[in-house]
Amino acid sequence: HSTAKPTRGAFFLLEGVDRCGKTTQCQRLLQRLLQAGIAATAMRFPNRTTSTGQLIDSYLQQTSNMDDRAIHLLFSANRWESADMIVEQLKAGTSIVCDRYAYSGVAFSASKDNMDLEWCQAPDRGLPAPDCVIFLDMSTEQAEERGGYGQERYEKREMQQRVRQRFQELSQLDDGVQWKFVNAAQTMDQVEDDIWSIAQQTLEQVQPEVRQLWQS
Ligand code: TMP
Repeated sequence: HSTAKPTRGAFFLLEGVDRCGKTTQCQRLLQRLLQAGIAATAMRFPNRTTSTGQLIDSYLQQTSNMDDRAIHLLFSANRWESADMIVEQLKAGTSIVCDRYAYSGVAFSASKDNMDLEWCQAPDRGLPAPDCVIFLDMSTEQAEERGGYGQERYEKREMQQRVRQRFQELSQLDDGVQWKFVNAAQTMDQVEDDIWSIAQQTLEQVQPEVRQLWQS
């Protein structure tokens, strides 16, 4: 067995239902990595700073409306804008902690009427694939106990329940990406520790090639 450092950074993706503490846990994982001397950077989607991100932001804040397909493709474009940079960072040895990605893209869009799961997957095919999906799970009831939802589009109970169901379907795709479920109803410190042990395992298993998402 070798003690050689991994040849590239790891791509950690955190996904989860709203109010699961995902954003806090992304920050904590980033800190743990940095403290362990592992080069790492944080990323989140949608990235609201780019021009596609600004259109997405106004859609989410309900100051604009858009066709369901058009907004879906914009979310995907917003990821593709970062695709080269993701691969470059990983190859340079920097790990990435990412708050939402294509799985959110499909889970949310495919929770709308007349939006087919496979249709929703298509534009994200070929994106750099994460090395693991860390899914912060809690029931919709538990999420609601943490305080009401915000004002943005999708922050409604019915939608949240459907989204959780879609995430479950996505976790069962045989797409070569490992899903790790974490009970997000635990204390923040417990959740952090669970995520850290998953991250350590993932770091040990990183393969040199960055795989492409949902390519057969
Ligand atoms: P945020 O709260 O993490 O910034 O995410 C904003 C909302 O956008 C959230 O309700 C999930 C949703 N979303 C999509 O509908 N499609 C996507 O591709 C992504 C990344 C997020």
